[in-house]
Amino acid sequence: MNAKEILQKYKQDELLEKLESLPENERELLEKDILSQDFELLNSLYNESKKEPVFSESDDIRPIQFPHSENDLRREMWQATGMHLLKQGYAAAFTLAGGQGSRLGFEGPKGAYEFGLPSKRSLFALQAERLLRLSAEAERPIPWCIMTSPLNHKETINHFEEHSYFGLNRNFVRFFPQGTIAALHPNGSPILTKENRLALVPDGNGGCFRALAQSGCLAWLVEQGIRYVFLNNIDNALIRICDPVFLGALAAQGNCEAMAKVVAKRDAAEKVGIFVYKNKKPAVIEYTDMPEDLRELKNGDDLVFDGANIGIYAFKIEALRKMQKTPLPWHTAKKTIENIPQALKFEQFLFDAFQSLNSFATFGAYRDDEFSPIKNAEGNDSPKMAREMLGKLHKSWLIQAGAQINPDKLYEISPTLSYAGEGLSDEIFKRELGKNILEF
Ligand code: UTP
Repeated sequence: MNAKEILQKYKQDELLEKLESLPENERELLEKDILSQDFELLNSLYNESKKEPVFSESDDIRPIQFPHSENDLRREMWQATGMHLLKQGYAAAFTLAGGQGSRLGFEGPKGAYEFGLPSKRSLFALQAERLLRLSAEAERPIPWCIMTSPLNHKETINHFEEHSYFGLNRNFVRFFPQGTIAALHPNGSPILTKENRLALVPDGNGGCFRALAQSGCLAWLVEQGIRYVFLNNIDNALIRICDPVFLGALAAQGNCEAMAKVVAKRDAAEKVGIFVYKNKKPAVIEYTDMPEDLRELKNGDDLVFDGANIGIYAFKIEALRKMQKTPLPWHTAKKTIENIPQALKFEQFLFDAFQSLNSFATFGAYRDDEFSPIKNAEGNDSPKMAREMLGKLHKSWLIQAGAQINPDKLYEISPTLSYAGEGLSDEIFKRELGKNILEF
C-alpha cells in the first residue's frame, strides 16, 4: 500500500487532505513518515487508550522484599567479585538516554543537562567520569553503550565530542538510537510538526533490548567476552554506574539472570513504579496503574508496597538475548506534544520483559547513597534536590574520612578522586579543595 491508500484505509481524511495539499518535496517526506508507521497498531492503541486502565482482580499481587542488612554484610565480598569481573573485562555499562525529559523542560539531551554543580558537570559527565575511575581501577576500558533517540542522537554525540569523551577511550563508547512511534491527537489522528512531518516520539525504554541487538552493540559486547551488563537511566545524579558491588551480587547468585536495585518509596504519593510479584513472577506496576488502596496500604507505619523501581539493573548477557525477543505490551501516556495537550504517547517499558526471565532478584539500596533522579523543574526530583543530595552525600564521605570540613557547606568530589567515598582523608581534602573537591 502507498501512503494515500494507508490513510484511506484508516480513515485519516484530514491527514490525507493535508498530504495532498503539500508541495512535492514536503509531501515525499510526510509519505516516508507515514510508510514508517504501523497504522493497524496505532489504530488499536488508540482504541485501547479510550478504556480506563483495568487492574485485574484475578491477579495475585504481592510485595517484593528487598533486604538491606544482608547486603551490608556482604558488600565487601561482592565489591571484590565485581572488581574481578571488571578486571577480567567481563562487565559493561548500558545507559538509557533516549527520553525527552518533557517534565524537566530542557530542550537538549537530558544527559547534557547541567544541574548547577560548582564544577558544571552534566549528567553524562558525572557518569563518564565515574566509569573512568572504575576503568582506572580495573586497568582496562569498560565498554559503554548509550541508547539515544533519533531526536537527540547527534546532540548526544556532539556533547561527548565537545568534552573529548570526558577522558574515556572513545573506541569503547557506542551510541545507537531507539525506535519512534507517531503521537496521536486526542481525536486519534497523527499529530503533525510545524514542518508538516509526523510527530514521531521515542517509543519508551522497552525497545532497549531490541535496539541493542539491532544496532550490533549486543554482538559487539559478546565479541569482547562481556558476561554482565549494568543498565541505568541517564537522569540519576547519584548513579554508581557499573557498580562492582551490584555486579558481584548478581554473579554470586548463581543461576539468577538479572537483578534490580530497589529503594524504599519516599511516601505513598511518590510517582515511581513498584516492584511486586504478579502471579508469582517479578513485575513492576507503574504508579498510574496502581490502585489507590494498594498504593496507600500500610503495615503499621510502613507502606506494604514500597519497593521503588529506580531504573538500575544488572543482567547476564544471555538474559539480554532472551528479552530482545520478548513481545511487550504498550502503555499510554497523555502529554503535551507539538502544543497539543492530552496528546497520546505510546510507550513500551523494559520491566515488562522481566516476565520472561526464570530467575530474578532484587537488591536493597539506600536512596541517599544512590538515587536522586532529575525529573521535574522544581520540587521533588528537581535539579535543586539532586544538587543538594549529591552535596550532602559527598560531605558525608568527607566526614567519614575524618576531613575537617566546613559544617555549613556542601561538597562536590570529582569522580576521578572517589567513586563511592573510598580513598579520601583530611590530607587529600586539604590538597584537593578548590581543585577536585569543590565547596558550595
Ligand atoms: P522517563 O520515563 O523518566 O522519561 O525516563 P524522560 O524522558 O526522562 O522524562 P519525561 O517523562 O519526558 O519527563 C526514564 C529513563 O528512560 C529513558 C530516559 O532517557 C531515562 O533515562 N527513556 C525513556 C528512553 O531511553 N527512551 C524513552 O523512550 C523513554
